[in-house]
Amino acid sequence: MSRRAPGPGLLKFMRGVRKHGLIDYVGQLWREYGDVFHVRIGPKRIVCVMHPDAVAHVNMDNRRNYEKRASYDAVRDFLVGNGIVASNGDLWRRQRRLMAPFYTPKAIQTYADMMVRDGVRLAEHWGQYAESGAEIDMHEEMTMVTASIILKAMFSKESHESILQMKDAAGKMLAIVNDRMMGVPVPTWLPTKKNRGYHAARRLSREVIQGLIAERKGMDEADWPDDLLSRMMKARDEETGRGMDDQLLHDETLTIYFAGHETTARSLTFAWYALATNPAVTERLHEELDRVLGGRLPTVEDLRQLPYTLQVVKEVLRLYPAVTVYARDAVAADEIGGYEVPAGSSVLLWSYYTHRHPDFWENPETFDPDRWTRERESERHNYAYHPFAAGPRVCLGNNFSLLESHLLLAVLASRFDVQLRPGYRARWIMDGTLGLADGLPMSITAR
Ligand code: HEM
Repeated sequence: MSRRAPGPGLLKFMRGVRKHGLIDYVGQLWREYGDVFHVRIGPKRIVCVMHPDAVAHVNMDNRRNYEKRASYDAVRDFLVGNGIVASNGDLWRRQRRLMAPFYTPKAIQTYADMMVRDGVRLAEHWGQYAESGAEIDMHEEMTMVTASIILKAMFSKESHESILQMKDAAGKMLAIVNDRMMGVPVPTWLPTKKNRGYHAARRLSREVIQGLIAERKGMDEADWPDDLLSRMMKARDEETGRGMDDQLLHDETLTIYFAGHETTARSLTFAWYALATNPAVTERLHEELDRVLGGRLPTVEDLRQLPYTLQVVKEVLRLYPAVTVYARDAVAADEIGGYEVPAGSSVLLWSYYTHRHPDFWENPETFDPDRWTRERESERHNYAYHPFAAGPRVCLGNNFSLLESHLLLAVLASRFDVQLRPGYRARWIMDGTLGLADGLPMSITAR
């Protein structure tokens, strides 16, 4: 017989979050109540789960019972419409089948040279910063380079101005979604500054994307560049022979823009933080990069010879998973870890805490890329690590992101060392994804 999961009352929860911040307070609740606990908000039950068995249950074993319903309303309504991140059922299945071939490890290799070129362009700027001693905000730097890469992968073109435009629009749109998710239900028709910014941003992003689709349609198909937009426009469903209509193309394009760079930007930012705070890791990273590359640029073929660089990336995604938590809505009543999950509950899967679970990770707070040797990986519970979620709805762009991080780190870390601003202390926050309250001020020195 399953029991009701323990958990704090709403007032205690709200006071705790205000006092300690969401991430730390959830950690305290985990220590107090265990691997499954719940918070009731009005008639709704929010069930938080941390254990790898629960991750397997929701994402794999009983996945048909877990959809993206009410928990994704804000993302659907205010951001990406029917894009694949928020869709369900037949639409999701069809779109996943249609788009999965664009993101296989082989398919994304076509973007590797472009990723390296963008890394080199950034390295040229960093050379100037290193000379002048100017301080940079690493998050800003990583956002610009990952936005540039995803825009090129999608549309084969990018100007500094278009990156800034899309970046600004994305920020304004996300601000509304974050408010909704944090329970601030201000109607978007009210003429507040934030709402006006949101509507203008939505108009702008729609115009930009529709313009790009129209431009592509105006070209001879034989001249279409081999980018994600062309791949999406050419794709035909194997059963019906149908492609995507313009609305769906728009929604999927916007989805990939949002899903495809900020998460990687944050992970790379945390990688620099980890390197600055773990000199022994940096030393081993440099040793590998110097030995294998000897000062030249990396190619895809080199990556197999750079395992430690990838281990650093994987460890960053363990300790600082950009998508700290993700949600599924229970369709019918269920049971997790002996506790009841009523129909309609929202189940929150906290990768941040699964990745720190003491039953699966030794010294979980220590940044240790050696956890990622093949032997140690094979000994671990399959679902103890889920920075990209897991099961059929695993991140579509995980290979893209790993390739991008692996290459950028190789290009930049072989040329530069980074230092935190003296006295800087990281304050972690959740603003949709995991972030640093004060950015990441750093100085750079050439190696
Ligand atoms: C470090 C970088 C990244 C992280 C940590 C990450 C994480 C995730 C997670 C946790 C999910 C599941 C979200 C949920 O179920 O609510 C997801 C879904 C998704 N991600 Fe990523 N992601 C990253 C990079 C990317 C990139 C580079 C792309 C595209 C180029 C991408 C495209 C997607 C898409 C399309 C989905 C939805 C898949 C589906 O529902 O079928 N992501 N990602």
